[in-house]
Amino acid sequence: MVPSLRIASISGGLLKCNQNSISAVVTRAGSWWSHVEMGPPDAILGVTEAFKKDTNPKKINLGVGAYRDDNGKPYVLPSVRKAEEKMASKKMDKEYSPISGAPDFCKLSISLALGDDSEHIKNGLCATTQSISGTGALRIGAAFLNAFFKGPKDVYLPTPTWGNHIPIMKHSGLGVKTYRYYDPKTCGFDFQGALQDLAKIPEGSVVIFHACAHNPTGVDPKPEQWAEISKVVKDKKLFPFFDMAYQGFASGNVDKDAAAVRLFLKDGHEIALCQSYAKNMGLYGERAGAFSLVTGSKDEAAKTLSQIKILIRPMYSNPPVNGSRIVMEILSDPGLKKEWLADVKGMADRIIGVRTQLRDNLKKEGSSKNWEHITDQIGMFCFTGMTHDQVERLTKEFSVYLTKDGRISMAGVTSKNVEYLAHAMHQVTK
Ligand code: LMR
Repeated sequence: MVPSLRIASISGGLLKCNQNSISAVVTRAGSWWSHVEMGPPDAILGVTEAFKKDTNPKKINLGVGAYRDDNGKPYVLPSVRKAEEKMASKKMDKEYSPISGAPDFCKLSISLALGDDSEHIKNGLCATTQSISGTGALRIGAAFLNAFFKGPKDVYLPTPTWGNHIPIMKHSGLGVKTYRYYDPKTCGFDFQGALQDLAKIPEGSVVIFHACAHNPTGVDPKPEQWAEISKVVKDKKLFPFFDMAYQGFASGNVDKDAAAVRLFLKDGHEIALCQSYAKNMGLYGERAGAFSLVTGSKDEAAKTLSQIKILIRPMYSNPPVNGSRIVMEILSDPGLKKEWLADVKGMADRIIGVRTQLRDNLKKEGSSKNWEHITDQIGMFCFTGMTHDQVERLTKEFSVYLTKDGRISMAGVTSKNVEYLAHAMHQVTK
């Protein structure tokens, strides 16, 4: 707390202070924050900062998960450009959005996730609010759990998980625990380990699942594995909290990528769901996303939404309007939606293609290591299995930037830099 300065009097333009306040001024003059220490750069976004400073023309940024075209340039989807043109001609106002965002945005978002024919939507069971992209959705969800969840206030996360999951949960007052997910020996899913750990979680706890394109590993359960996971979650009465930041981006098909979420609902779970339009519409800086609870009744949906709004108001009042307008233009116009679905598939296909190119080029370099996981994994990322030291060498010797855990954003790999990348990876792993 800041101690208050008591000003005794002001006379003739001179500021007179009493003895206590003078000493306070002296000790604090120019040094309110002298106790604050330098924090480390963000594990993911800090990589971009370091990349920008590098003058090597061959440098590659494989840190942040943001899509690039085959020239390594940021990509605005053609469907998004069209939506923006339509918006510009409408000369819309800049009024505040409702606390939970535009109602149409919420309806379109939950339909995209659950499918147009969803019984849960028809029966009014969904409490959906717009969020500040996926991070904001997680933050709202975590705040809601902290305020209203009756079970243990620990959230179970896969190991590893997205770097920001843990701080978001902790920042919201929740405890963080983990369950096994990734097997470094196979660079694949540790199905048995996950099942065993899930079965040990105390009844009534919250478990976070990446709905598709697991970040950072690119390793997703197969449909039949999801079915078994759903069964364990049911048996242990766990609350499934889905983070779906990559719908469409994994397989190129928005319905296929939402299969796990829809399966859980079919199996009778009530869920929490976070959505983001950063990746699948390329709306990174627009910060458009959604948080939903799929509840047990229409009445619960209405009550929980009313409380979600009360939580949002002191955090940021109401969400930004521009990104959500783009989303609404696209999802409400069947023609434009079709174009968008083709754009998403185009991005997913380029990434799938470049995975094969990277694997082939590593082979050409003469690498005897097994790199099959590069093509087995899915979505924005490849968890290469490279060690901290190898990552450090890649950056120092080759100006290839990535997170220390060996994750590469496949979106930064292009037909032009893939040979150089394969060469660099081979040099540090041979
Ligand atoms: C990533 O993991 O790189 C992305 O989700 C971007 C972010 O905010 O971390």
